[in-house]
Amino acid sequence: MLIARTLSELRDARAGLGLELGLVPTMGALHEGHLALVSAARVAGRVAASIFVNPLQFGPTEDLARYPRDEAGDLAKLEASGCDLVWLPHVSEMYPPDGASTITVGGPATLWEGALRPGHFTGVATVVAKLFGQVRPRAAYFGEKDWQQIQVISRMVADLLLPVEIVPVPTVREQDGLALSSRNRFLSAENRAAAPALYSALRRAAQAIAESAPVVATLATANAEISAAGMQPEYLALVDAQSLEPIEALTRTARLITAARAGSVRLLDNVAV
Ligand code: PAF
Repeated sequence: MLIARTLSELRDARAGLGLELGLVPTMGALHEGHLALVSAARVAGRVAASIFVNPLQFGPTEDLARYPRDEAGDLAKLEASGCDLVWLPHVSEMYPPDGASTITVGGPATLWEGALRPGHFTGVATVVAKLFGQVRPRAAYFGEKDWQQIQVISRMVADLLLPVEIVPVPTVREQDGLALSSRNRFLSAENRAAAPALYSALRRAAQAIAESAPVVATLATANAEISAAGMQPEYLALVDAQSLEPIEALTRTARLITAARAGSVRLLDNVAV
């Protein structure tokens, strides 16, 4: 497995990897969800993964400093999963001090996470566009746990005519249903025990809506279930799967999306309806 820490090392390493290269962008602290992205990319060809905790997507009151970092563990996992190249850029190379450009995505980026975390998706879109320019993958793989992120990146790729296929990969879950996330390690024992209630509530609500139950009442019940489990729901909505606009009836391909706080940890999840 090749490891590149500077742009010139990346250029040399990239040269031998051919056109069929899949990119798995990550912020490290890798878990089985990330390794599922590597496996999906390997089916199509060679695989590059990036590890970069992107400061631009964290708000001033968010957890950049305490975001988990485990470079040695991550490299061992990537090597064992058959990754061909790991790109570990330095902040100064991703964001030169004289840099003056960022990417603003409208549409799906303005709602939900975008509304609660101003600037978050500008940070995500900007770093992902930089990674695409540096690594030049044919395809890039993203986990469906961050459903809105996939729609924002797909919008950017379509609008900027970037020659990269975006491949969504299903969420990997613990046995009790909790979606894997690098932040789950910060859950207290009590909140960890409560957390699977988020997915249960989503699944029950999706099933009810699919069977024509009224949307508003079903969402209220699901919200009550999440609160009763001891979490604080931030949003729970039935949305158009691509635009992320809220919908009141199942007239288009829909997604049920949610974010809730379990103690200090924000949990995101979503299911198809
Ligand atoms: O999903 C993530 O881990 C990050 O948002 C990403 C896509 C690697 C960009 O920093």
